[in-house]
Amino acid sequence: MAISSTQAIPATQAVPQHVAIIMDGNGRWATRRHLPRTAGHAKGVQAVRRVVEACGRRGVRYLTLFAFSSENWRRPPEEVSLLMRLFVQALEREVDKLNEQGVRLHVVGDMSRFEPRLQSLIADAQVRTAHNDRLHLSVAANYGGRWDVLQAMRAMLIQHPDLAREPQRIDESHLAPHLSMAWAPEPDLFIRTGGEQRISNFLVWQLAYTELYFTDQYWPDFGAAELDAAFEWYRNRERRFGRTSEQLRNDSAQ
Ligand code: FPP
Repeated sequence: MAISSTQAIPATQAVPQHVAIIMDGNGRWATRRHLPRTAGHAKGVQAVRRVVEACGRRGVRYLTLFAFSSENWRRPPEEVSLLMRLFVQALEREVDKLNEQGVRLHVVGDMSRFEPRLQSLIADAQVRTAHNDRLHLSVAANYGGRWDVLQAMRAMLIQHPDLAREPQRIDESHLAPHLSMAWAPEPDLFIRTGGEQRISNFLVWQLAYTELYFTDQYWPDFGAAELDAAFEWYRNRERRFGRTSEQLRNDSAQ
């Protein structure tokens, strides 16, 4: 089980071990160029490739990408189907390359609403990359942070029905193992492209002590140089996890 940032102080390193990204701005990137919004999503897939490669080279162990939120079903139907098609294509075309790069793929979210073909491609890609350990790439699809907490709570009560009668006994250690990404440490660095400054129902539990980085760049323009700028910003953050600056200085002097 990964360390909880509210229960213990996790070790931090110069390169974030877990990076979580909201890939925003695909639509605006395309609209600026008088292209359909869907062209922005297609270009966004290229940015995904660049960032996966760059994270692997820089020693990031976990990369989590928000590809489709529980709320994205509200988009026009043709945009939703294009996003599903891109997802299918990426799974069909990229798994060999992910294997070459030592990338283990995880898809997190409620898969039940996806068409059976997509569900079986996801299952197959996860099995085919399961032996890799260099970089864990998690794609959040039909994912919502509140859905995650609720499904964890249901799973917890199925495992420990007695807790329903004594809710005062419930603590993090009961709930956290049932969260979708219980096997990963909490994100060190969150990046959101596209200029908006919100979490948008991403990993609401896991982002409790994550450093939040916002950039105006649109996702299709994001790549290794932009990732390095975010890492440089991250290196200069003082991660106190509730302590004072003085305590931090004393701890590092010891
Ligand atoms: C947000 O931009 C982006 C999305 C909702 C989808 C992200 C999907 C991809 C990058 C492609 C598929 C990814 C994988 C992993 C295969 P937006 O449409 O909200 O942009 P806007 O805010 O400018 O309208």
